[in-house]
Amino acid sequence: MSSDTRCLVAGNWKMNGLLDEAMAYVRELRENPAPEHVEIALMPPFTLLYPMSKPLSEKNVRLGAQSVYFEEKGAFTGSISPMMLRDAGCHYVILGHSERRDIIHEDNALILKKLQASWKAGLEPILCIGEHLEEREAGRTNEVLREQLSILEGVEGDKPLTVAYEPVWAIGTGKTATPEQVVETHAFVHEELARLGRDCRVLYGGSVNPGNAEALMACEGVEGALVGGASLKADSFMQIVEAAARAVG
Ligand code: PGA
Repeated sequence: MSSDTRCLVAGNWKMNGLLDEAMAYVRELRENPAPEHVEIALMPPFTLLYPMSKPLSEKNVRLGAQSVYFEEKGAFTGSISPMMLRDAGCHYVILGHSERRDIIHEDNALILKKLQASWKAGLEPILCIGEHLEEREAGRTNEVLREQLSILEGVEGDKPLTVAYEPVWAIGTGKTATPEQVVETHAFVHEELARLGRDCRVLYGGSVNPGNAEALMACEGVEGALVGGASLKADSFMQIVEAAARAVG
């Protein structure tokens, strides 16, 4: 990662967090927690977006959502629109996370609709891609990533986008990709994005923690982290932010 890259460390709380805990978490963050060259964002559950919006913006931490529906409004019981996320103070929205692909069966066609709707509302999507263990073992990693990125084919290249490479076998498992695997796969992702006319930031995700963050963030082609479990405590999340700052610096 070159020193002029603006790296993003984003915390995906998944289905965790109640109001009191969230407020205590924000209080634990320093006044200006982001070191130079590192941007910080948090993606709490929908119920915490609005209450966290102001306290986080006062600390220069960006807010994001973990999902969205693609329609603007109407009879879609239980869904949240991109404009509602903007209204609640969001800058980012995570799309294509493997838990939504695998558990909720979101496919490329749906993810593309969500991407377009998010851009229309002024959100910056963080598009997650990643292979399952059996796909890696069968030597199909690049093929899977290419297929997931193919939704960007024909999409205007100037829309704000961050990509997160998250090997599915590394998510929540305590296993991380080796630096060699990370360097090789990120190089492929950047190459594919260039072919699609995009030069966007690529984060790494999957069991990033305070102990491994610096080595992962120092890998060529890695421009930040999407952190799940280790973002649930302010202290460990901030240790990852500091590790990223050391890797950038
Ligand atoms: P993890 O989750 O850090 O708990 O592995 C990462 C993610 O799902 O984004």
